[in-house]
Amino acid sequence: MTTKILVSAVSAALIISAAAYAHNGATGVVKERMDAMGILGKVTKSLTEIMRGDVSYDAELVRKNAAQIQKHAGDSMTQLFPEDSLMKPSEARPTIWSDWEEFEILAMRLEALAVGLAASADNGLMASGIAPVAGMMVTDNMMSSGDMMSSGDMMTGSMMGGSGRLPDAAELASMPADGVFNMLAQTCASCHTKFRSEKN
Ligand code: HEC
Repeated sequence: MTTKILVSAVSAALIISAAAYAHNGATGVVKERMDAMGILGKVTKSLTEIMRGDVSYDAELVRKNAAQIQKHAGDSMTQLFPEDSLMKPSEARPTIWSDWEEFEILAMRLEALAVGLAASADNGLMASGIAPVAGMMVTDNMMSSGDMMSSGDMMTGSMMGGSGRLPDAAELASMPADGVFNMLAQTCASCHTKFRSEKN
């Protein structure tokens, strides 16, 4: 047990230092986008803690984090990927430029979901009791109509690359914050699966 914990602590340290090293070697636009993605990583981690209930729910902090994501998504993100910028140690895949439209849709989707997350922050977590009654009723409606939550449409869509239907701004604003956050995190994952290599 103790050995196991030690070993995983050591390997975690190795992974962290390897990542830091790779990151340090980056220059120019590759460094810029790795830095921006690094911020997204930190902010998303903070949001995950909030959404899981590891820390107490704080709508203001959700909005602050969402604003950070918004700032680095959309055009701000795509402009950090000029054509064929694959300089080491970039983990970007060349398919970014052959499937540019899809890449762009995912970056825009992230921006829309960040805006939606800020708008839903006051609704609190699903079934947490924090959510105002009106918000909960909208959620119930969505579930029973089979329009969004049960269709699996959005999930499948985003897993297949983000062409699935995105709820509009008003729908996002009426959802529980963790529901919106799940879609947002799914967007990070979809883009990484398709456009980021696991290793150099
Ligand atoms: C539109 C596509 C796309 C979206 C959306 C996206 N990423 Fe990335 N991400 C990438 C690509 C491509 C790379 C690799 C960049 C490189 O190495 O040049 C990357 C790299 C990263 C890295 C590693 C940075 C480093 O230092 O090597 C982290 C962390 C990261 N993304 C977090 C996130 C998080 C969190 C989100 C969602 C909030 C997100 N990303 C959304 C495409 C995306």
